[in-house]
Amino acid sequence: MSSSSILLGIIGSPRKHGNSEILVKEIYRQLSGDWELRLMRLPEMDIRPCRACYQCLFGEMKCIQDDDFHIALDALLECSAYAVVSPAYLLDANAGLKRFLDRGLAFYGHVAALWGKPAVAAAIAGIEGMEGRTKLAVEGFVKFTMGDLRGSTVLYGALPGEVLLGERGRSEARRLAQAIEKPGKEERVAGVPACSVCGADSFRFLPDGRVRCLLCSSTGSCEWREGRLTVATQPGDHPFFHTRESVLEHAEWLRGMKDRFLQRRKELKAVVQDYAGVGTWIKPDRK
Ligand SMILES: Cc1cc2nc3c(=O)[nH]c(=O)nc-3n(C[C@H](O)[C@H](O)[C@H](O)COP(=O)(O)O)c2cc1C
Repeated sequence: MSSSSILLGIIGSPRKHGNSEILVKEIYRQLSGDWELRLMRLPEMDIRPCRACYQCLFGEMKCIQDDDFHIALDALLECSAYAVVSPAYLLDANAGLKRFLDRGLAFYGHVAALWGKPAVAAAIAGIEGMEGRTKLAVEGFVKFTMGDLRGSTVLYGALPGEVLLGERGRSEARRLAQAIEKPGKEERVAGVPACSVCGADSFRFLPDGRVRCLLCSSTGSCEWREGRLTVATQPGDHPFFHTRESVLEHAEWLRGMKDRFLQRRKELKAVVQDYAGVGTWIKPDRK
């Protein structure tokens, strides 16, 4: 890495000096090269919901909303590597991460700059075993921001600072720091079934012994072999973010929706109109 490397710490916690923040800082401290640490606390940023207008896929390829999304995206574009850390909130990552990701069709305008930045992800849960899908959510954050996921972990700690009280927090921070500086894919944990395509370890079990990776959507089979569950997955017909080319193809496919909509506009309108006026909307009183 050059002397001007920037590590962006993406914090999914509103809590100042909380576990997510100190873990990112510890990862930074464990880096051996010359790095600058920048920090971004997503929950405190004004990132509004995507309006599903698809404007960001056309023309300038920029989201038309004027809020902090652009500041966050610029920080991501400028960094050399990033670490995303979120607490578990109700078995999932903090919604601040999702609010940013939901604006992610705007990432397609920056594929060249975003693709393949070294990135690591960590989920922090207050109760052992109660992380739910938080690890998958932080891994998904890296995937959809087109980073090269070099490592991920789940750590436990409820009180601010607790995550670094034991040795495991610091050793995992060291492992993630080394992964940022060492090219190559994440080393898989021995004995844990992993997706053959992307290496993730979160699955949905389907009928007939098939299994789907919840990070990259590859499907395949799973079986017990010598007392261990093994998984063999293959990329499907609609590979999602496996390669830079697949990202560009997906953007093209999305742009094609406009023509597909225009072609079927009449029949779609007939379906939708049938439901117009059904139900009473609850709306906030903004007076
Ligand atoms: C609203 C809320 C929901 C939470 N939900 C969970 C949960 O589902 N599972 C869990 O293990 N911990 C849960 N926690 C605990 C936090 O994940 C834990 O305290 C974590 O260390 C917070 O990280 P921070 O210090 O970076 O904010 C929750 C905390 C809050 C405030």
